[in-house]
Amino acid sequence: MKKILAFIAALTVALAYLNCTEKVPDFQSYLIPKPDSIEIKRGYSSIKPPFEVVSESNITENLSNYILNNNIFLSYISLNKKSNMVDKQSDKKNTSNNSSKITLQLSKSVDESDESYQLEIGKNSVTIKANSDAGLFYGLQTLIQLTETENKLPQMVISDSPRFEYRGMHLDVSRHFYSVDFIKKQLDMMAYYKLNRFHWHLTDGAGWRMEVKKYPLLTDIAAWRPYKNWKEWYKGDKLYCSKDDENANGGYYTVEQMKDVVEYAAQRNITVIPEIELPSHSEEVLAVYPKFSCTGIPYKSSDFCPGNEKTFEFLQDIFDEVLEIFPSKMIHLGGDEAGKADWKKCPKCLKRMRENNLKDVDELQSYFVSRMGAYLNSKGRTFIGWDEILEGGLAENAVVMSWRGEEGGIKAVKSGHNAIMTPGGYCYFDAYQLEPSTQPEAIGGYLTVEKVYSYNPVPDSLNNEEAKFIMGVQGNVWTEYMPTPKHTEYMIYPRIAALAEVAWSNSENRSWNEFKPRINRHVSLLKEKGVNSCNLNADVLLTQNPDTINNYMVVEMNTDLYPASIYYTIDGSEPTVNSNVYKKPLNITDPTDIKAAVFVNNVIAGNILKKNVSYHKAINKKLTYNCIYSWQYPAGGDKALIDGYFGGFGYGDGRWQGFLKDMDVVIDLGQKTKINRIEGKFMQIIGPWVWMPQEVEVLVSDDGVNYESVAIDKNDIPVEQDGVLFRYFGFKGDAEARFINYKAKHYKGFMFIDEIVVE
Ligand code: ACM
Ligand code: ZN
Repeated sequence: MKKILAFIAALTVALAYLNCTEKVPDFQSYLIPKPDSIEIKRGYSSIKPPFEVVSESNITENLSNYILNNNIFLSYISLNKKSNMVDKQSDKKNTSNNSSKITLQLSKSVDESDESYQLEIGKNSVTIKANSDAGLFYGLQTLIQLTETENKLPQMVISDSPRFEYRGMHLDVSRHFYSVDFIKKQLDMMAYYKLNRFHWHLTDGAGWRMEVKKYPLLTDIAAWRPYKNWKEWYKGDKLYCSKDDENANGGYYTVEQMKDVVEYAAQRNITVIPEIELPSHSEEVLAVYPKFSCTGIPYKSSDFCPGNEKTFEFLQDIFDEVLEIFPSKMIHLGGDEAGKADWKKCPKCLKRMRENNLKDVDELQSYFVSRMGAYLNSKGRTFIGWDEILEGGLAENAVVMSWRGEEGGIKAVKSGHNAIMTPGGYCYFDAYQLEPSTQPEAIGGYLTVEKVYSYNPVPDSLNNEEAKFIMGVQGNVWTEYMPTPKHTEYMIYPRIAALAEVAWSNSENRSWNEFKPRINRHVSLLKEKGVNSCNLNADVLLTQNPDTINNYMVVEMNTDLYPASIYYTIDGSEPTVNSNVYKKPLNITDPTDIKAAVFVNNVIAGNILKKNVSYHKAINKKLTYNCIYSWQYPAGGDKALIDGYFGGFGYGDGRWQGFLKDMDVVIDLGQKTKINRIEGKFMQIIGPWVWMPQEVEVLVSDDGVNYESVAIDKNDIPVEQDGVLFRYFGFKGDAEARFINYKAKHYKGFMFIDEIVVE
């Protein structure tokens, strides 16, 4: 809180001071992540790139190379005579009377972590102080962002330090393969946003991506498939092919390329953490080396056989080569989603379990992971695994990457292990970020940049001691539905910028409204940099909250755009700049047609939102279940279907109630009531096994005993239709009744409904 106050105070001073003749500088709207404090000094600075960099102490070759290879820096000179660094004088040196000087000082006076820094912008020069090169590097990154303002910079001192030591981005290069140039571009952007761990998901069933000298079939065959697009391959025969096949698609990174990436990352203070998946997600390995599966048959298994000693020798050989390439202390062993079915029947696995007193296949998985972990420990490394590694007992020294919610991370931390938070609901950038029907196909789910920004990686249930074991947070980029580099960037940006602030900023009460101007500016900046960022949502975001005391719906409208205004109508006309301007929430009782749109500079920015809103007649009435809902998706529990809360685009948002069988509920309105609509909304997303009901029947009654059927609404959406689909089912017409029986016939998988609207 102290830091926030300092920041606000500094801004206030800045605004007061600069308020006279000059345009108020908006440098603060450029910085992501937001620094701890900015102290504004009197007067403006005249600094501008290119910069001459002078270091007063020995800096590492990584940092000097970064400076030498970046066009924003004209030259680099080390004043330390003991330095064995080659000084570079750029051939543009003769322009140096226009350049500004940056002095780098390694100084123990800067407190806190190695990544902390102090950046002082003077009248004509810049000084960066830090404990280490990492801090100097981040001072330079902040300076780079500051120079992207069109406005004059005030003289100032920025003091800054990261909240978390682990600030990660993951990239799956198995489902789709990406060039080294693409990887380097992402590393550049990670550095720009002060992220410092690149989790490289190098192996998975859709293709092996790492050259392993000892096992050439991994890159001769397992890295290739006769389909470019993952979905076609997955829905097709899921075969691999020879790299020499005419249709071969895919690829792998050579040892030289991976070393090059590691070095490029290191120059940007980024550690590359390779992931080699075990014991599962290994279909590609077991297609070419089937002897390491329980069945021994190619294309039969996704899990390695932990009963076979040779499996361990094989994986150790691979890790020997991994460790040669990747100096990272932490190596990722995968560990997620093992089926373990083969293990239950495999004589070797059963023998292993007997001999080691392992009571089930979960403990066998734990044995597997622990044994590989111990191997890495013996080589001076530690390891990370997805949260399934908790099942059957967590290995010593293991770091848990919590992805199925936060529970895995919490459990790990409470048992004294480190954890990295990557829960699907906040950190999976493969979910839709805008209204799904307007977007290229994604795997499902809905994760807006605002929701990413809202994430707090330290769960409330942890005390201060436990919280220290949360190493940080990571955005995960699973690429099943990202067939091109351009599309992959579209899914990463701008969400990663929001996550970067979550990971770095110490602000205890981050505010979306405060972030909004900055993220708007950054979307433009990203595009100027040639990054294919998704746009922010230009449509009106409408939320409804029932006020059950006053019996009305509180309707709020918002937009991601800044600056922007919202205009709306309730008379059916199209919104224009002459319509009502939205200033505060509307309180609505009777069914009302709202039309609203976002305007930027008086021009409509997105689509017109059309929404019927009411405080409907079933809210807070009595609901009885003649069936059970899924414990996994209870939404608001027994009241969920008449609580006045509606679900969004993803079934995991806590508003959608899930059913695995037929649904059958009765609403008692308390008295005989005139009705012209009884409808519930369902969804279909076949990827995660979510379907519409086969049909809905609505019956009404005056006495709760004798019912009359008023509607049978049969599903007309093909069960194989892709996308994220919504449809209302129920009754429209004239009726009068006290009791409503709403029945939905289950098809398969999950059936989700958010609310039964009665009007
Ligand atoms: C995962 O998303 N399967 C870790
Ligand atoms: Zn086996």
